[in-house]
Amino acid sequence: MLWVIGMPPEHSADKRTRRPAATPATVDMSVEIAGVQLANPTLTASGTCGYALEYAAHTDLSQLGAFTTKSITREARKGNPPERIVETPAGMLNAIGLANVGLRRFIEEKVPQLPGLGVPVFVNVAGHCVEDYVTVCRELDPLSEIAGFELNVSCPNVSDGLEFGTQPDRLRDLVGAVRGAVKESILIVKLTPNVTDICTLAQAAIDGGAQALSLVNTFQGMAINTDTWRPMLANSSGGLSGPAIKPLAVYLVHQVYHNVAKRQSIPIIGMGGIRNWRDALEFVLAGATAVAIGTALFVDPDGPNKIARDLRKYLADRGIAAFRDIIGQVQLHPEV
Ligand SMILES: Cc1cc2nc3c(=O)[nH]c(=O)nc-3n(C[C@H](O)[C@H](O)[C@H](O)COP(=O)(O)O)c2cc1C
Repeated sequence: MLWVIGMPPEHSADKRTRRPAATPATVDMSVEIAGVQLANPTLTASGTCGYALEYAAHTDLSQLGAFTTKSITREARKGNPPERIVETPAGMLNAIGLANVGLRRFIEEKVPQLPGLGVPVFVNVAGHCVEDYVTVCRELDPLSEIAGFELNVSCPNVSDGLEFGTQPDRLRDLVGAVRGAVKESILIVKLTPNVTDICTLAQAAIDGGAQALSLVNTFQGMAINTDTWRPMLANSSGGLSGPAIKPLAVYLVHQVYHNVAKRQSIPIIGMGGIRNWRDALEFVLAGATAVAIGTALFVDPDGPNKIARDLRKYLADRGIAAFRDIIGQVQLHPEV
């Protein structure tokens, strides 16, 4: 039974049901995200690994499950003035402000580099009105170098400053409009955690046509310099990432998986503070089909590949033949 092989041996209900030991080489680490085949479940998180080959000297990008670019917008953006990154206890606050080269230069300069990665590429797309997202996705959609889009919906709408990802109707309409413009690529929607009920937003994204969800984006936060009494970030507030948010993110992945995604077979890419294979495993047991690593890349750019190798060994040691068998297999305590 699936739930038995998914349990650590010391918790296994019947040790006789455990499979004979697998070797790391025989463990099937592949996963599928809405029809896109990934050789293993580790990805880079948007905004922490550049557009394509910037990290090539520091890690073997071809060993990733997939690569996710930083957010691309219709027009080039300089982003916010410094300071736009500040370290916090167990985390990092950033207010980069979507600095990027814009759609034209992305197509001309960066897309030709994408095949050099040797893995599926998801382009993260941001905008400030529906037409921004639709334009970027429509233009990139026919390009064979791109497997899918990850919509960053944590951006304020120009009309009223409210984020797309915090309003179910608006999110459904946005995703629906992009869906109508995209024929070749898969559509992933990246959810913001800065909402009261993330499940409602997850369902709205699916209703609009999302084929996969990624969660979570950063948590809104602030740090104040106690000498100057000024905010540490020039933007005053920013997004918190790193180990500080991991339990929050695991919880949200679990909520979305059990209440929304599982019954509709929508895969989740989980992220938020992952540093090692145990962190990644928590997300997978909570319901993530794949995991993305962001802030930890600043410490160890080879982290995703190490995590994939370590997860493979973990599964082999427990005689689990396929990574996908452990997705969502957290064993909840009986209700008291
Ligand atoms: C410096 C930095 C830049 C980021 N830029 C983006 C971005 O451009 N688009 C986006 O969707 N998420 C962006 N994120 C959010 C990450 O992709 C990720 O969702 C979040 O940081 C949680 O994962 P982590 O704790 O592993 O970093 C950024 C995060 C950081 C730290």
